[in-house]
Amino acid sequence: MEYGKVRVKSNYKLSDGVFILSAEGAELPKQAGQFYMLKASDFSEPFLPRPISVFDVRDGCVDFLIEVVGKGTQALMSLKAGDELEMFGALGNGFPDEKRDAVLIGGGTGCAPLLYLAKTLGKRKTIYLGFNQRDAVSDYLLERFDGICDKVVVIYGGFVTEDVIYSEDAVYYACGREAMMKVLKQKADDFGTKMYLSYGNRMACGVGACVCCVVKTVDGNKRACKEGPVFDSRLLV
Ligand SMILES: Cc1cc2nc3c(=O)[nH]c(=O)nc-3n(C[C@H](O)[C@H](O)[C@H](O)COP(=O)(O)OP(=O)(O)OC[C@H]3O[C@@H](n4cnc5c(N)ncnc54)[C@H](O)[C@@H]3O)c2cc1C
Ligand code: FES
Repeated sequence: MEYGKVRVKSNYKLSDGVFILSAEGAELPKQAGQFYMLKASDFSEPFLPRPISVFDVRDGCVDFLIEVVGKGTQALMSLKAGDELEMFGALGNGFPDEKRDAVLIGGGTGCAPLLYLAKTLGKRKTIYLGFNQRDAVSDYLLERFDGICDKVVVIYGGFVTEDVIYSEDAVYYACGREAMMKVLKQKADDFGTKMYLSYGNRMACGVGACVCCVVKTVDGNKRACKEGPVFDSRLLV
């Protein structure tokens, strides 16, 4: 893991609140599902960096798909090519590649870690993507997944979890809002499905020191930043 100041290669706005930030000069991730702590250098507020998953790795740059929810993500959106970015990582344990057919499930911009996962997994891949509506963000994401996954299923406005076919033959990977993750955990339990869920708990230090990101598991509390953010759904309480 490296801490350092890197440069923004580009910052591409997909909509008023969603953008793709590309950083050059950082240590590249070892595994899909890992994240970095990011902070716009010129902003004193917020003080702490924010955890953001690896969206893609291209031409030696790490790309992030970011949705603005508060000051930290707003500051990241205002960055321009050449600006300085504080970045440390790659952090956490990502998605294991089980070398068998994979089903990926993403909810809205929560699908961010699944693109790099789809690119790095070796076997046949089906992805289910759920969006509230068709817009510039959904169109862009579908374009990016096209050609990487063997099958892309898109659901607008409904619950993507209801369209997924759950089986014991494939391994499932998912990322999205908390409500979606709870439903998926239940589905995995009900259908005996092997499923990995990426948890986006709030984080402060990102390196296991503050214990503010704990997740309850059958083996006791685990830090999402250190032992996660990806967990086997069977371990989660
Ligand atoms: C491992 C990990 C990976 C992540 N990957 C991405 C990513 O790829 N793209 C992306 O856009 N976001 C991602 N997030 C979420 C992102 O870190 C938060 O949206 C960001 O920290 C918010 O900072 P802020 O200063 O903009 O908002 P704040 O001012 O800190 O918060 C604004 C509002 O959002 C809520 N909020 C903040 N963080 C979270 C959270 N983690 N979960 C639920 N609610 C929250 C707050 O309670 C508050 O209501 C990830 C989070 C984690 C832990
Ligand atoms: S964010 Fe500090 S322990 Fe996880």
